[in-house]
Amino acid sequence: MNNDEQLSLFLGRQQHEDIEPTNRSMYDKNVLMHAVTDDVARCHSCKLGSTRLNTVPGEGNLDARVMFVGEGPGADEDLKGRPFVGAAGKLLDAIINAMGMKREEVFIGNVVKCRPPSNRVPEKDEIDTCIVYLKRQIEIIKPKVIVLLGSTAYKAMIPGSKDGITKARGNFIQVDGTEFMPTFHPAALLRDPSRKTDVWHDMKKVMSLLREEM
Ligand code: URA
Repeated sequence: MNNDEQLSLFLGRQQHEDIEPTNRSMYDKNVLMHAVTDDVARCHSCKLGSTRLNTVPGEGNLDARVMFVGEGPGADEDLKGRPFVGAAGKLLDAIINAMGMKREEVFIGNVVKCRPPSNRVPEKDEIDTCIVYLKRQIEIIKPKVIVLLGSTAYKAMIPGSKDGITKARGNFIQVDGTEFMPTFHPAALLRDPSRKTDVWHDMKKVMSLLREEM
């Protein structure tokens, strides 16, 4: 079913035709994002589906110019069904605010949408199965910049990447017109606060790029 057919089904033919073209793209994005969220909620394609409490599809502004991508939900996120709501999330909120934005202005997602047991790193088959949802979300939002938080997000989104996150961070990687900025994960900053300076340098590069694009 194409976008227009999905919209018609959702709104009814007459209403759909009445929507101003400018508003229509936001309706479009909402319909498509709801479809991703529903698909994630029903998903049992990998073993994480049998241990999760809630799926954590991601949340935020569907017109966001910046998207933040983490590894996968932890215990707090699993309980609430929302991304980055624990200690690492508080630090991510502080980073976003320091960049002059509010959490609601950006989109926050993860490579995998279900919590890996005991917060282990998601396995390759889990990432390979789940990454389609993140790719659909990126396609809907079309952000200018995607900040990759930590090694799992970096390796998942930049296939063939040979460097570790310590070497890769701080340099934009352009893929199909989207700029990816790898940086340290907020949880790594909680373990080693001296890395905050590096992350701040990386986020200043993101802010400069966004300013250039205004
Ligand atoms: N860490 C992540 O990578 N994602 C979350 O949503 C929370 C913690």
